[in-house]
Amino acid sequence: MKQNILLTGGAGFIGSHTADLLIKNGYNVVIVDNLSSGSDCNINKNAKFYNLDINSPDFEKVFKENKFDYVLHFAAQPGVSFSTENPAQDATENIIGTINVLKHSKQYGIKKFITISTAAVYGLPEYLPVDENHKLTCLSFYGLSKLTMEKYTQMFGIDYIIFRFANVYGPRQSSYGEAGVVAIFNDKMRNNEVITINGDGEQTRDFVYVEDVAKVCLLAIQSDVKNEIINVSTNKAVSVNELFKIMGEKYNYTKAPIYTEERYGDIKHSTLDNTKCRKLFDFVPKTSLEDGLSKLVESYKVGLKK
Ligand SMILES: NC(=O)c1ccc[n+]([C@@H]2O[C@H](COP(=O)([O-])OP(=O)(O)OC[C@H]3O[C@@H](n4cnc5c(N)ncnc54)[C@H](O)[C@@H]3O)[C@@H](O)[C@H]2O)c1
Repeated sequence: MKQNILLTGGAGFIGSHTADLLIKNGYNVVIVDNLSSGSDCNINKNAKFYNLDINSPDFEKVFKENKFDYVLHFAAQPGVSFSTENPAQDATENIIGTINVLKHSKQYGIKKFITISTAAVYGLPEYLPVDENHKLTCLSFYGLSKLTMEKYTQMFGIDYIIFRFANVYGPRQSSYGEAGVVAIFNDKMRNNEVITINGDGEQTRDFVYVEDVAKVCLLAIQSDVKNEIINVSTNKAVSVNELFKIMGEKYNYTKAPIYTEERYGDIKHSTLDNTKCRKLFDFVPKTSLEDGLSKLVESYKVGLKK
């Protein structure tokens, strides 16, 4: 019999790719999303959709009307700068919202709760690549709300997996959000607009392709792994200048970037160790940046919904 999955945030960037993969693999997917940053164009037509907020009193009816085997909780306020300006709303979405999903997941007896945290919980790296045992000294309210939701997840008394994603990129990503740089470059290059780079562009990030993180989420459902916190990353450092060059070649973009002041509080280098992911799932994200960016550029040629 087909297994039922509740996917919160399934109209968003990462959630919608994960829904596509789960459906392709024979799962029934029920999406709950309030479309605050997601879009109904992203929703897989074979998924059942509730246009609902996870904090709404009506949310429980989703559990009453469906019997879930697994819950994938992606719905969140994903912006670092939004969290700085709106800490209470950030906490409402990311902490209270998660508690609500956890509460019903426990009450209705699901098998495993899988949720998405972030590299932002680590704060300034003391060593690279950052592994799961690194100190947790988050520098933003977003990092803090995600760290808090991790702790609630661990203490709720249900089986869980917490993934800490590096900078995810790919089709359907909006230029707002945590890994905005690829999406911002993508928008600007397509429109042949001048690009501004903060600092000297030599800052590095660990860019992971969205279909690879969706695959890890599928493996989390298919495997017996439970009660673990796991980095999801490529463990490769790519500078913003390198990213600019590779994307520029794909778009035949020839404008020079404008370099401005470094952004206050920006981390210079960030890579996540993916040894634990490899050990537990025999898989790590492996799409090269070249290939991932080609797929991204191609998706704009054939239409974003594909
Ligand atoms: N994009 C990244 O690089 C990255 C990195 C680390 C972690 N994450 C985490 O991955 C998850 C997905 O992020 P994304 O990049 O796809 O962002 P996204 O904004 O595209 O997706 C979030 C989805 O959640 C929905 N949502 C938000 N609040 C809601 C609420 N209260 N009720 C119902 N739905 C709600 C939004 O409408 C959206 O569809 C988030 O938890 C985010 O914090 C993302």
